[in-house]
Amino acid sequence: MKDILELKNLSVSFDGLKVVRGVDFQIKKGEIHGILGESGSGKSVTAFSICKLHDQAVYDGSVLFDGESVLDMTESKLSTIRGYDIAYIFQNPHESFNPNRKLYKQLREAVSIHGIQPSDEKIIEVLASVGLKDPEIILKKYPDQLSGGECQRVMIGMSLLCEPKVIIADEPTSAIDASIKLQIIKLLKDINKTHGTTIVLISHDIDLVENICDSMTVMYGGLVMEQGMTSKILSEPKHPYTKALIDCTESLNKSHERLVTLEGLPLSPKYYKDHCPFYDRCKDRVAICGSEMPALKEINHRAFRCSQI
Ligand SMILES: Nc1ncnc2c1ncn2[C@@H]1O[C@H](COP(=O)(O)OP(=O)(O)OP(=O)(O)O)[C@@H](O)[C@H]1O
Ligand SMILES: [Mg+2]
Repeated sequence: MKDILELKNLSVSFDGLKVVRGVDFQIKKGEIHGILGESGSGKSVTAFSICKLHDQAVYDGSVLFDGESVLDMTESKLSTIRGYDIAYIFQNPHESFNPNRKLYKQLREAVSIHGIQPSDEKIIEVLASVGLKDPEIILKKYPDQLSGGECQRVMIGMSLLCEPKVIIADEPTSAIDASIKLQIIKLLKDINKTHGTTIVLISHDIDLVENICDSMTVMYGGLVMEQGMTSKILSEPKHPYTKALIDCTESLNKSHERLVTLEGLPLSPKYYKDHCPFYDRCKDRVAICGSEMPALKEINHRAFRCSQI
């Protein structure tokens, strides 16, 4: 299957500070790819770069969507891709809507930018398909009158009206409670199956990544630390950082989500140096880890950034 997204040596800086430092990804059409890592590791900045969403950022390297270079696209081309070809589902659904306008108007406006004028019946059908009860009533409400789960479903329904090729879901379940979370995940899985939509799922939750992602990337310090098929990585992690993430969640009660909570603080970009960013926290470190940046090595369809592997 062809790659729909390809990031090559992508770096992103804000005010001269590099926060994403040469990230490589290849995601195939129809695949569900997870990005796992602690807070500040560069997951969202990487995902935002797929549509060049940070207007204050300086980008380097390349982002290819269906073979076309996103970083070289004009603003008008970018605005046709955003929402139409690539839809984002954000962490806090309430913040993604204008609180002062009813959902029906917002939804119509958002899709009409892309020249899509669905009938009211179609809108209701799509909202019902994402599990919203009484879509007609919901459409007459303001965002604040909906629960987090309902709002998230409206956002997913809205993105489906454009039949996107890719959905980027950035922590889509962190603002909603556990039972709704399972439903949203099932919904994303169904969308992937039914429409063949490629999904990039950013999460702190290892169970979630394990349950739905075919392949995954582990990020730390603005870098890819490990990458490959999810089943392989989670059953036989190679990188000490991935191992630490798995170990620190293993001890939690299985009935809870296994959130990544590693001992010590993640490294902030202003302390990035040209050596392994995990050096200070790594149990397996040797002298070279604190003096040289390991390259990303590829072995048997897996990639690791560690001098000791
Ligand atoms: N617009 C911005 N301007 C300056 N720095 C930014 C900006 N957005 C993000 N950063 C910095 O880039 C780094 C990576 O941030 P990012 O949001 O990608 O982390 P993340 O892995 O998504 O974390 P989280 O799990 O908390 O969402 C952080 O140090 C963050 O402070
Ligand atoms: Mg984030």
